[in-house]
Amino acid sequence: MDESQHSHSATGTLARASMADAVRFTGKVVLPMLAGGLIARRPRAMAAIERWQLDRTAVAALQRLRRRYGPGPLRLRVAGRSLVLLLAPADVQHVLAESPEPFTPASREKVGALAHFQPHGLLISRGNVRTQRRHFNETVLEADRPLHRLSESVLAKTRAEFGLVSEDAGSAGHLDWEMFSTGWWRTIRRITLGDGARDAENVTDLLGSIRADANWAYLRAARTGLRHRFLRELRTHIDAAESDSLAALLRETPAEQGVDRHGQVPHWLFAFDAAAIVAFRALALLATHPQQARQARAELAGLDLSRPQELPYLRACLLESVRLWPTTPAVLRQNITAIPWHGRMIPSGTSFLVFTPFFHRDRQTVPHAHEFAPDIWLDGRAADHPALVPFSDGAARCPGRNLVLFVAGTVLATLLQRHRFHLRAPARLDADHPLPFSLNNYGLDFAVEPIPR
Ligand code: HEM
Repeated sequence: MDESQHSHSATGTLARASMADAVRFTGKVVLPMLAGGLIARRPRAMAAIERWQLDRTAVAALQRLRRRYGPGPLRLRVAGRSLVLLLAPADVQHVLAESPEPFTPASREKVGALAHFQPHGLLISRGNVRTQRRHFNETVLEADRPLHRLSESVLAKTRAEFGLVSEDAGSAGHLDWEMFSTGWWRTIRRITLGDGARDAENVTDLLGSIRADANWAYLRAARTGLRHRFLRELRTHIDAAESDSLAALLRETPAEQGVDRHGQVPHWLFAFDAAAIVAFRALALLATHPQQARQARAELAGLDLSRPQELPYLRACLLESVRLWPTTPAVLRQNITAIPWHGRMIPSGTSFLVFTPFFHRDRQTVPHAHEFAPDIWLDGRAADHPALVPFSDGAARCPGRNLVLFVAGTVLATLLQRHRFHLRAPARLDADHPLPFSLNNYGLDFAVEPIPR
């Protein structure tokens, strides 16, 4: 990589924020993000974040920094570390396109957090072993195929479990997070670890405890005993899983020696958690936007839902959910060598932060920033915007994207086919007002009304 290539994306000079601005940034952006739990969400903190709409405060803080210092990348000192905050879409595109080298996704912060439960995970791997793990993940998850080769069984498992969720919701007259996530995890354990793991809550609960530690990154020592117990249980399920599960594919997919097949699964389970949040929020969007709900139902009306379907409109609704409320608000990179950029030398080991809510909710570049606009994912507007990156971009783009959109789309289809949903809480979501910046998935509660067949 020569200097001209690096300076190509320059959108201003590399400015340095004042100490007061760095402190303000830490208070308004970093601390609320940490409080919400980056690795395992904290429901009480999420409720407070929603109440105070702290994501709006965070986005406003970045807008203020852009007004003050211009759109070029901004250097800040946060907790004694040098951080470069990206403020222009072109710089986001550049840094993500230049991953994994010189901008590695395995930043110090991420390694500190994720090593608690996935020391051999792809996202925190570097060099040759990263290439091998990426190839392995792409092969098993079939990153580029809208319909995974297991889509028939994924569909059957999802429809069976969410058929039960629908029945329960119908008898209770409502659907809340507890009911939704119970069905979700049964589905995910069946898809990932096989039908025998449907009720193996201990595995996902163990992972939950370790992830709670991971929220503290280096500040909390890794409980290796707990991690070994979790990995032992996980291995037992992977080895026993029947042929129509991801675990079986994992067993039979060739892998280079350093890959550690089993060691990839903790990330998958962790990431399916974010997907539950995205799907439940998408349901809230559909419940409060009649026109989009009509379009979603029209998509389903002509289809045989007992066969795998791509469901482009429902996928677009899910993409909107994760655009509006990104589940990876901090996309981090770290340069592995010193690089010239924006007219300065940036020493190796510097962290680069893409704070996605800022770009996803920026009226300057996204005119419909605060609206539910699934069409942007279908007509090319989102694809043309380099900083709408709910699944990241470049070489570390989420390899589970297609699979997870299929699972979550099937969940929505199964629910919408049987019931109409009316959001009981929170009241602040409606089609005639800008959407809130923070939405606590744990607090969503729907009244359900059966659709006569
Ligand atoms: C709605 C759900 C999901 C969202 C929003 C999401 C988002 C992301 C993002 C933003 C990244 C990149 C982070 C970065 O650039 O630093 C990523 C990476 C990754 N995701 Fe997902 N993800 C989701 C679900 C999944 C699922 C279900 C799986 C697996 C079954 C998965 C597997 C991975 C893997 C293995 C990586 C690491 C990629 C690499 O380092 O090359 N994700 N995901």
